[in-house]
Amino acid sequence: MIRSLDSAILDAASLLRSSRFTTAFTGAGISVESGIPPFRGEKGLWNKYDPRTLEIGFFLNQPEESWKVIKQIFYDFFGKAAPNQAHVVLAGMEQRGMLSCIITQNIDNLHQAAGSTVVHEFHGNSMKLVCLVCMHTYVYGEISLDTLPPRCPKCEGLLKPDFVFFGEAIPQEPLAAAYDAAGKSDVFLIIGSTGEVMPANQIPPLAKQNGATIIEINPQESHYTRWITDIFLQGKAGEVMGKLGEILFSTPLHND
Ligand code: APR
Repeated sequence: MIRSLDSAILDAASLLRSSRFTTAFTGAGISVESGIPPFRGEKGLWNKYDPRTLEIGFFLNQPEESWKVIKQIFYDFFGKAAPNQAHVVLAGMEQRGMLSCIITQNIDNLHQAAGSTVVHEFHGNSMKLVCLVCMHTYVYGEISLDTLPPRCPKCEGLLKPDFVFFGEAIPQEPLAAAYDAAGKSDVFLIIGSTGEVMPANQIPPLAKQNGATIIEINPQESHYTRWITDIFLQGKAGEVMGKLGEILFSTPLHND
């Protein structure tokens, strides 16, 4: 029996309210309503750009070519995006003690911009650039991208965005935090991810294996939906999270 989205949202709200440890696992889909295209799907960035240009080997061999794509995808777009309702509600849940942490695959900084403070960035963050020679780091706005590839003002070394390229290792901090969260979540909220990219896509199944109830928000089914999802809230992140926020931030659901 297919139940209505509203009744599924009520069930999800009830679970979230009684959960002792809730993790939100977010992908590119949560930022689509902020104007940032996803990577996959009909309007996906990988339909327009070749993902191989974001492999670390390609970047080191052809930094100018790689930087041309990086600038168009991550810097021409991202600078103008603002958090949407979904990011804001997650920050509100953290402030009310209803969310223990966010594990995000996104590098757009929108969770932090919305006020979330416990954010583990599985793929790093596009706001910092690092020199591959002297390892000095710069804030994105400090470095001009008029000439590509950008060079380190201190040593002329090649600058690289401080996010994880294909073929690079996941930074230790978010990796450890993600496995820790997957080990102790009662409720694990997956928002806007296809579940296609390793090793991030191993975190939700691990949470399920450790006993978490999986709530998923996505307008379409993902690799997770028929496999591990317990409550599928089929819809856009901003809209569904907006409804969840109304319930969670209003009076208690039951006299519990
Ligand atoms: N609300 C919620 N989800 C949405 C919305 C929306 N408004 N619009 C699209 N989606 C969903 C799509 O249905 C899809 O499942 O967001 C997902 C986007 O999938 P991907 O682009 O593959 O994003 P993600 O799963 O985060 O990709 C993982 O791949 O390219 C790498 O490093 C990149 O972090 C990224 C990783």
